[in-house]
Amino acid sequence: MANAEIVYCSMTGNTQACAEIVYEKLKDLGVDVDIHDCTTVDPEDVFEDAELCIVGTYTYGEGDMPDEIIDFYEDMQEMDLTGKIFGAFGSGDTFYEEFCRNVEDFDRAFEACGATRGADLVKVDLYPEEADKAHLEAFAAELASKIQ
Ligand SMILES: Cc1cc2nc3c(=O)[nH]c(=O)nc-3n(C[C@H](O)[C@H](O)[C@H](O)COP(=O)(O)O)c2cc1C
Repeated sequence: MANAEIVYCSMTGNTQACAEIVYEKLKDLGVDVDIHDCTTVDPEDVFEDAELCIVGTYTYGEGDMPDEIIDFYEDMQEMDLTGKIFGAFGSGDTFYEEFCRNVEDFDRAFEACGATRGADLVKVDLYPEEADKAHLEAFAAELASKIQ
């Protein structure tokens, strides 16, 4: 089990692209990191032994949580993540009133589980462009600095 775990939810690939940027940056910084699609893992399996817990997700409906990450979100509520560092990021579309609302849902859920925010959440408008890439890399570097 890696020291840092990234779990993402992505339908059309934008959040996955963001997750891969965070993953590559953490790896470059020497962090032992794994990355998973949310439909393939349970929070107990990935977060129990991790020092750094990261979730990336998009937003659907009108500020809704995508169906495929609801089970993960609900199972996470039952965990005690005290002592762990967390980060949340995601892609949305500024066209919608509730821009990246589901990233905020996870940010709150992590806090409710007792984890400590290692970096401010990152919201990306659709696909991560150069400025977003820099933002996501800074997010990853800040998270890494909290565990090293
Ligand atoms: C039906 C529908 C509803 C959406 N609702 C929201 C929303 O409420 N807030 C938001 O920020 N983005 C919303 N989006 C935009 C997606 O979150 C955005 O396209 C995102 O980049 C998709 O991420 P993915 O490529 O990782 O699946 C919606 C998209 C669709 C198709």
